[in-house]
Amino acid sequence: MAKQPQNNSRKPEVDTTGHSWDGIQEYNNPLPRWWLWTFYACILWGVLYTIAYPAWPGIKAASPGLLGWSTRANVQAEIDAAEAANATINTQLASADLTAIADDAELRTYATSAGAAVFRTWCAQCHGSGAAGVAASGYPNLLDDDWLWGGDIEAIHTTITHGIRNEEDPDARWSQMPAFGDILAKEEIDQVVNYVMSLSGTPQDASLVEAGSVVYQDNCAACHMENGTGDRAQGAPNLTDAIWLYGGNHDTLTHSVTYSRFGVMPSWSNRLSEAEIRAVATYVHQLGGGE
Ligand code: HEC
Ligand code: HEC
Repeated sequence: MAKQPQNNSRKPEVDTTGHSWDGIQEYNNPLPRWWLWTFYACILWGVLYTIAYPAWPGIKAASPGLLGWSTRANVQAEIDAAEAANATINTQLASADLTAIADDAELRTYATSAGAAVFRTWCAQCHGSGAAGVAASGYPNLLDDDWLWGGDIEAIHTTITHGIRNEEDPDARWSQMPAFGDILAKEEIDQVVNYVMSLSGTPQDASLVEAGSVVYQDNCAACHMENGTGDRAQGAPNLTDAIWLYGGNHDTLTHSVTYSRFGVMPSWSNRLSEAEIRAVATYVHQLGGGE
């Protein structure tokens, strides 16, 4: 076989590192200069960066860095700036006549959007993100015209400020339905439950309704009213409208009557500012069912 011609275009031999693996040797080519200087520059940049900015983890906190930069401080500064920007209108909102807020376009717009944010943060976990309540959970729908404690802006404001049946606020709205399991016989409870079902036109055992009506007038009318439409002064729900806090089927009603219910809403006066309470009251009021 003819010898391959020598490749004369090859560069002159460079030094090798002296390493040899199975006869393969390693050239000792210097790194390109531009690459090397970029590399050193990166190292220098890295060192300066860790001096200037928070970097090295310590036991309690990272090294703060010479520039004093901090994401937390930045957020706080932004919050402070936003609060300062809203300070005037918040003062206005907190001191305005409650019923006048809806008539003042600027206040109303501000209160509604600020209130929506408060609602998402503090109320949605119980009342649902759209304020539609959570079916049969005892957390009422705030979109309808059915109000336990009142749906004008002042009633809503009071409910939010002090809450309902909580132990933390002495001015909380308060009422307690007795547990009729201790008061009435099982048959009487069955009768009154069927009577209550008849009030909202829910299919029921019609043979028990008349007896149930007597039990009702003796035991329930004081709070739910003779005709069953409820009493806002006591937060006693309307039993005729087929809108149920806990549910309107026979079993659930029997449970409500036997064991009673005790829906608790926290008081907000110690968590939210007056402006925030008014904002969320305005938001709830304008949702649809406000009076
Ligand atoms: C821990 C759960 C919970 C949270 C959080 C909560 N609520 Fe309530 N809320 C309730 C319950 C339960 C009731 C019904 C109590 C009852 O049976 O009378 C209620 C009732 C109400 C009512 C009265 C409705 C009526 O028909 O009269 C309003 C208004 C209201 N909530 C607004 C709010 C607002 C605004 C927030 C947020 C700032 C909020 N709630 C946060 C549980 C909660
Ligand atoms: C002292 C007043 C009081 C009396 C008396 C009373 N209730 Fe109530 N009732 C209430 C209150 C207040 C609630 C709301 C409880 C809550 O939301 O936690 C309620 C809730 C209910 C509910 C649940 C409604 C729903 O939307 O889920 C039913 C049903 C009910 N009552 C039926 C009766 C019947 C039947 C009687 C008579 C045997 C009666 N109540 C007597 C105050 C009363």
